[in-house]
Amino acid sequence: MFKTVDLLIVEDDESMVKVLERIAKEYKWNYRIAKSGAEALEIFNREVIEVALVDIKLPGFSGLQILEHVKQNRFITEIILMTGVGTVETAVSAIKMGAYDYLTKPFDDIRKVGTLVEKAKERYQLLHKIRELERQNVDQYEFEGIIGRSPKMQEVYRIIEAISPTDSTVLITGDSGTGKELVATAIHRRSNRKDKPLVVINCSAIPEQLLESELFGHKRGSFTGAIADKRGLFEEADTGTIFLDEIGEVSLAIQVKLLRVLQEGEVRAIGSNTSKRVHVRLLAATNKDLAKLIKEGKFREDLYYRLNVINIYLPRLKERAEDISLLAYHFLRKHSAKLKKRVEKFSVYVLQTLQNYEWVGNVRELENVIERAVVLVNGDTIYAKDLPPQILGQSYYVTEEAGPKDLTKFPYQEAKDRALASFNRTYLASLLKQTSGNISIASERAGMDRSNFKKIIRRYNIDIGEFKLIRMKE
Ligand SMILES: Nc1ncnc2c1ncn2[C@@H]1O[C@H](COP(=O)(O)OP(=O)(O)OP(=O)(O)O)[C@@H](O)[C@H]1O
Ligand SMILES: [Mg+2]
Repeated sequence: MFKTVDLLIVEDDESMVKVLERIAKEYKWNYRIAKSGAEALEIFNREVIEVALVDIKLPGFSGLQILEHVKQNRFITEIILMTGVGTVETAVSAIKMGAYDYLTKPFDDIRKVGTLVEKAKERYQLLHKIRELERQNVDQYEFEGIIGRSPKMQEVYRIIEAISPTDSTVLITGDSGTGKELVATAIHRRSNRKDKPLVVINCSAIPEQLLESELFGHKRGSFTGAIADKRGLFEEADTGTIFLDEIGEVSLAIQVKLLRVLQEGEVRAIGSNTSKRVHVRLLAATNKDLAKLIKEGKFREDLYYRLNVINIYLPRLKERAEDISLLAYHFLRKHSAKLKKRVEKFSVYVLQTLQNYEWVGNVRELENVIERAVVLVNGDTIYAKDLPPQILGQSYYVTEEAGPKDLTKFPYQEAKDRALASFNRTYLASLLKQTSGNISIASERAGMDRSNFKKIIRRYNIDIGEFKLIRMKE
């Protein structure tokens, strides 16, 4: 198991820090000190903190902003706020925001501080255990190949379940990479048509003239190049399902024809003067704002209402942050199996980074990132160095930085400093990797005492969180 930080003290008043440090030592907690809000956020992003004692009035960020940051990022750190006279009211509203408790300064009884932190630690450990259990249960949150435990995705499953057996037309909306095609497939598979064809067509990938003939078919000689009769996809999909992806890209002329199919249940091939009945269920998807296209005159309102009998909206990944780690493990499993590599873990730092990233490309982008990491990784753990730079942002430095290849570019002293720094980083990083970030064991192996070892780690700005592991159980 990886080692967490028991207590983070966020306080700018020196004498107060001393008091709290004394308590921390007495309880033998592994603790950190931050003297400003900014420093605290940095530590939060780097280490796993069980409990934080946070002064409400701080230079830079206030205690409340720290609380907000922690809750928004779904860290399960328990926050205890410390208030002076006159800020008790703020502390009470902080509890509503999810703080564990608050303490009034100066403390009337120091022992109370200790017991309160201990209680908060217990709660943290309980939540942590729950999270771990959830992590082991990717399968439990799987629905027809769709992964998600967020209430928003659970709602999507509920709708799919309810509407699949009907013949209703469904419009699936959501940003690129949110899983629209996956949902369309799920609907077909859960419908009574599941043994009949599911025909998928991406309307934006085909030029207009061709699209019409693809969808509805054509008669021989109806246009140059029409050398034989051709059945359209609606006919191919007869008794089954047709999925029109990127419906927002379809021309007005074809929209009229689609409307006809929906209204009459009939298709007419290009160049033909008779219609054919088809029994097709229609699913459509778009990442465009159709209401806006209607206003601009690019999409027919009547078709919109025919399509939008049932709407399934897929939220952006960022709006369902609780699905991120679940999906990350799912893709880790999927791609390590595909590549026949035994990769089973993420470092804590990597998980936190994935959790905080914007994901404009949604689930598809996350999958690409994990796939790339599985390709690159050596060993069984994904570390930050296996993530693409845009995901890592600026705070990260490359653990395996080798230093410049040709040191003769530099004057002797600088070359030596660079070589030394590079050696130190490689050496320390390898040791920490072997020991999963356990400083006691690493320092022992290095033959140094713990505090010196910590000093050089700090000097070379090495992020211990990088080496601590969360393992997914089978
Ligand atoms: N909830 C999910 N669980 C598992 N995999 C998912 C999920 N959502 C999306 N994916 C995967 O992400 C990729 C993108 O999904 P999909 O093609 O369904 O998105 P889309 O909304 O159709 O995107 P676009 O608008 O760009 O076509 C696919 O590989 C899909 O399997
Ligand atoms: Mg798609």
